[in-house]
Amino acid sequence: MADTTKTATLTLDGKTYELPVLKGTIGPDVIDIRKLYGEADVFTYDPGFTSTAATDSAITYIDGDKGELLYRGYPIEQLADQSHYLEVCYLLLYGELPDKAQMADFEMRVTKHTMVHEQMQYFFRGFRRDAHPMATMVGVVGAMSAFYHDSTDISDPWQREVAAIRMIAKLPTIAAMAYKYSVGQPFVYPKNALSYAGNFLNMCFAVPAEDYVVNPILEKAMDRIMMLHADHEQNASTSTVRLAGSSGANPFACIAAGIACLWGPAHGGANQACLEMLKEIGTVDRIPEYIAKAKDKNSGFRLMGFGHRVYKNFDPRAKVMKESADEVLDLLGIHNNPLLQVAKELERIALSDEYFISKKLYPNVDFYSGIILEAMGFPTSMFTPIFAISRTVGWISQWKEMIADPTQKIGRPRQLYIGQTRRDYQDVTSR
Ligand code: ACO
Repeated sequence: MADTTKTATLTLDGKTYELPVLKGTIGPDVIDIRKLYGEADVFTYDPGFTSTAATDSAITYIDGDKGELLYRGYPIEQLADQSHYLEVCYLLLYGELPDKAQMADFEMRVTKHTMVHEQMQYFFRGFRRDAHPMATMVGVVGAMSAFYHDSTDISDPWQREVAAIRMIAKLPTIAAMAYKYSVGQPFVYPKNALSYAGNFLNMCFAVPAEDYVVNPILEKAMDRIMMLHADHEQNASTSTVRLAGSSGANPFACIAAGIACLWGPAHGGANQACLEMLKEIGTVDRIPEYIAKAKDKNSGFRLMGFGHRVYKNFDPRAKVMKESADEVLDLLGIHNNPLLQVAKELERIALSDEYFISKKLYPNVDFYSGIILEAMGFPTSMFTPIFAISRTVGWISQWKEMIADPTQKIGRPRQLYIGQTRRDYQDVTSR
């Protein structure tokens, strides 16, 4: 974070305050208000953090107006086209692309950590079979801190590193176990010979009774979904992980908090909500009814998979995901699927409708990822767990960055109090 000589001046009650203006490497300047309360006795007000930077970070950059997403400076389109998920994990965690030896070592470390403690399966068995896999994941990932005591000391950089590798490696295993449990099939152990994405597909779709061969196109599509979701700077779940971590909570507890936040339909839960909406619409002729509902503020209905807090131009991840969706549907020979027809027509109408154009509401990444995952055979309840697997590396990279920062403080927002002023307690007989 480079300080500039630029300052902003605030005038309040006849007094002026000089506020330093900080400059990042790219992106808008940031007015530093850290001393404002001490000097002027006022807070700033920004619910939803629409204008507030809560941290500096060197991991991910988004330009929402241009529709640009960079991981450590590399454009997402280039990574999605030329890289693979574990290389992106390395990049996010350590800041640079690995050489061959570094990549091989990282892959080996992740692969050797994919099994979970055998005792953990009893945890799964404690849940109802119809539990949402996200509910199971919040519980089981939180419980990792009860199983891996040797990587919970956050003051030890080596333990932080081991916790990071463990979570990247074990999240697919945990998500697949949650799925297998929900469909009443035996858990499938990880296989070291498979790729990260291939192993996940195998753990979800293999059964002991017959061999499962991972289809390379589906494996590539899954790897891409993972790359595109790997990080997205200070979104709600990442900020949750940082806030939980700022109190010194152990990394497994912090990631469990991130998973809980991701679950909401305004965030990672949107991919499930979007597919359910497409099913509810059902046929192309009903789209105008739903478009009208989305425009009507009183209906409380929103087109799921449309809009984004930061992207006010096409979500660059959505462009790549759309290509992947076409590839997967082609491979699987799905052309006349009614769900897909509804999705395509909805996209066409929304992109040409004045309401959506003027509010800059474009299809987001979740609009297309749901279509791919449905075609692969995942139930909608697994969509958000797959997002959680993919985002784990982003959460843990951001958490590590925060913990390593010597100026890090506990996160503690302030408030504008609008409740009762001081009043005296009345005995129940006189109320
Ligand atoms: N359908 C209809 N109208 C919408 C939609 C939508 N999907 N999204 C936003 N709007 C409208 C709002 O009603 C609002 O209108 P107004 O200005 O007349 O009041 C305007 O667009 C701006 O919306 P906000 O809610 O202020 O935008 P915000 O940045 O807070 O919300 C969000 C972004 C939560 C993503 C929103 O667009 C939404 O709810 N989308 C649907 C859920 C979704 O797809 N979420 C996934 C996000 S991507 C991700 O997590 C990977």
